[in-house]
Amino acid sequence: MKELISHFHSLMDTIQKESPILNSKHSFSKRTDYLPERYELANGQEVHLEIGQRAHISDILEIQRQGYEGKTPWGFVALENDIVKSQKSLYLLIYNGTEPVAFLGSRFEITDIHITNIAVAPAWQGKGVGSLLLELLTAVAKEEKVSSITLEVRISNSKAQALYNKLGFKAIRIKRNYYHGDGEDAVDMKLNLAKV
Ligand SMILES: CC(C)(COP(=O)(O)OP(=O)(O)OC[C@H]1O[C@@H](n2cnc3c(N)ncnc32)[C@H](O)[C@@H]1OP(=O)(O)O)[C@@H](O)C(=O)NCCC(=O)NCCS
Repeated sequence: MKELISHFHSLMDTIQKESPILNSKHSFSKRTDYLPERYELANGQEVHLEIGQRAHISDILEIQRQGYEGKTPWGFVALENDIVKSQKSLYLLIYNGTEPVAFLGSRFEITDIHITNIAVAPAWQGKGVGSLLLELLTAVAKEEKVSSITLEVRISNSKAQALYNKLGFKAIRIKRNYYHGDGEDAVDMKLNLAKV
C-alpha cells in the first residue's frame, strides 16, 4: 500500500512538472493577451473579441437561443461553472459594438483543446464569424503547444461539418446516441495541429 501511495505521489509530481496548466500562474482564459481585439470581416464589418467572464453569460444564452431555435444546450449554471469556476475553460466572444454576435466555448485538456460549443447569431451566419472563432482558437492551441483540437457535432448538422472540414478537421468516429433528449448520433472530429 505504501508503495502504491509513493508511486501515486511521484506520478502527481511528474504531471505537475509537465503540465503547462498546472504550472501556469494563470488560468487558460487569462493566457490570451496576445490575441488582437479588433477584426474586420470579409464584407468590411468590424467586430471585436472579448474573453468570456460571468458578465457574458446572458449574451451567451441569447446567442444560443437564436442559434438553436430557442434552446440553450448550455444553461446558466453549466456556463457559470465552466466560465467562472474552471481554470481550464476559455470562451471567445465576438461583438459588433454592444451586439453579441457569436461565441465559442473550449476546454484545455493538456494535449488537446476540446470545443464544448460554438454558435453564431443567425443574422451573422455565413459572414466568416464561425471561421474567425476557429482560427483564433487554432492560434491559441499553437501557443499552448497542444497537438489537437477536438469536438462533437450532430450527425445531421451538415453546415457545421462543412465549416470544420474546410478548416482541416477530420471525422474520427461516430458516437451513437450521444445527445441527451433526442439521442442523435455525434460525429467526433479532430484537427491534428501537426498537420496544419
Ligand atoms: C455552424 C456555424 C457555427 C457556422 O458559423 P458561420 O459564421 O455561419 O460560418 P462561416 O461564415 O465562417 O462559414 C464557414 C463555412 O461553413 C460552411 N457553411 C456556412 N454556412 C453554410 C450553409 N448555409 N450551408 C452549408 N455550409 C455552410 C461553409 O463551408 C463555409 O465556408 P465558405 O464560406 O467558404 O463556403 C453557424 O451556422 C451556427 O452557429 N449554427 C448554429 C449552431 C451550431 O450548429 N453550432 C455548431 C455546434 S457543433
